[in-house]
Amino acid sequence: MKRRDFLLLAALSGAATTGLAGACSAGSKSPSDSDSPSRGESPSGGRAGFGNALRIPPLLMPEVGADGVKQFTLTMQSGGRSEFLPGKTTETWGVNGAYLGPTLRASRGDKVRMRVTNRLGETSTLHWHGMRVPAKMDGGPHQMIEPGATWSPEWTVDQPAMTGWYHPHLHEKTAMHVYRGLAGLIIIDDDKEPELPREYGVDDVPLIIQDKRFERDGRLDEGGVEGGTWGLLGDSILVNGTLDAHFKVTTQAVRLRILNASNARVYRVGFAGNRAFHVVGTDGGLLERPAEVDRVKLSPGERAQIVVRFAPGEEVVLNSIGETAREAGDPEEDDFALMKFVAAPQLASSAALPSALGGVPAIPPPAAARVRTFKLSGSEINDKEMDMNRIDEVVPAGAHEIWEIDNTSYAHNFHIHEVHFRILEMNGAPPPAYQRGPKDTVFMAKGAKARLAVSFGSYVDPASPYMYHCHILRHEDKGMMGQFVVVEPGTEEQVPRTLPAEATHHHD
Ligand code: C2O
Ligand code: CU
Ligand code: CU
Repeated sequence: MKRRDFLLLAALSGAATTGLAGACSAGSKSPSDSDSPSRGESPSGGRAGFGNALRIPPLLMPEVGADGVKQFTLTMQSGGRSEFLPGKTTETWGVNGAYLGPTLRASRGDKVRMRVTNRLGETSTLHWHGMRVPAKMDGGPHQMIEPGATWSPEWTVDQPAMTGWYHPHLHEKTAMHVYRGLAGLIIIDDDKEPELPREYGVDDVPLIIQDKRFERDGRLDEGGVEGGTWGLLGDSILVNGTLDAHFKVTTQAVRLRILNASNARVYRVGFAGNRAFHVVGTDGGLLERPAEVDRVKLSPGERAQIVVRFAPGEEVVLNSIGETAREAGDPEEDDFALMKFVAAPQLASSAALPSALGGVPAIPPPAAARVRTFKLSGSEINDKEMDMNRIDEVVPAGAHEIWEIDNTSYAHNFHIHEVHFRILEMNGAPPPAYQRGPKDTVFMAKGAKARLAVSFGSYVDPASPYMYHCHILRHEDKGMMGQFVVVEPGTEEQVPRTLPAEATHHHD
């Protein structure tokens, strides 16, 4: 729904707050003047709300081969025809369908193979964000899939229950490929998960949040995607590819797996009336215990698992409210209604939330942990732009390190492939309880400084780098990215810092 409708709705429902009032006056700035991608232009026009049933991405059933490998078949395709706006057709890209892709579900210990065929008519890649995989299987900018080609990475799932996602990662083209619709969810289960709602699409519901701009005729407005400070900031919110969505609640408690798959926008997700709910998981897994909040902040690439309880017959809007002046020194973030939950007159009972979720506490970094520093400025990291042939960092396998991120400019975030990390400090203070679980992406407000405890994996490959980068896709495409390799401990000094030309060859 567009923001104007939301303000109207909020006023009608008595949910208007001073935060909202602040946002009313905020619309006139152009996005490129702002310090934060959660700000934007005042949208014009409007629609009535929540008429569309929330799409639930289908679960993709793998084929299990004689070798026990679960094989998922994915086709990246262009030319999809989607109807987001009533009666209007939007040309989109998708995976195994017109827009977005199926949810992939696997368990810890599974051997999985992804058979990815590119039917886009142009080169792309498919990256498994949050998955701990060998660098060659990662689907980053080096694992290009040519038009018509099939790429079949495989690995053994060895990480706790979590929600990941997949999306293209072609250097300089990620923003456009994701914006057109290429993204999907990955759910990893393990047998240690406590009693949480787990029926997919019923009480365990994915919410993929994205902002778009539409032309009058229904086409996606792509004009800003590859320009400006933030790339495109949309005025219309899709959840799972559904505009103005509602979800019919049939159980007392619902787990939401929320993914911010937007190009640049940052959301502070909560409910109208600011009801309390519990965060149970961060990017890479479950928390030790539920954290009660009324808002979760998610920048692009970040996920949160929350559990919320509903009363029979109630209707509640899920929204995003910019931070108030008091909280952030910034009254000008945009507010959005995201979707509505409509509870049935009678709800099936749900178990109480367990007090211990099984998430493991952070491993304190050793006293002698190596500290690396990353300065963010403009769209550079440590004053450099991405170079596909340059290895920026060499990390010994299994290392526990401290990465200090120093944002000297406007808002960014920082994502590291392959690892899970903990936020030790944000601006000198420990993060809120709901951000203390395993992370792979962290929001870096204007001027913020973070200390991260990063645990590296054991797949060594001195010639295939993993990426770290800002996940604001325009920044990533402009080169706000670096490369690291994980190597056999003791061999760090022998590793070539320049990749041979063939390391960047195309798959075919
Ligand atoms: Cu979500 Cu480098 O990616
Ligand atoms: Cu990633
Ligand atoms: Cu950035």
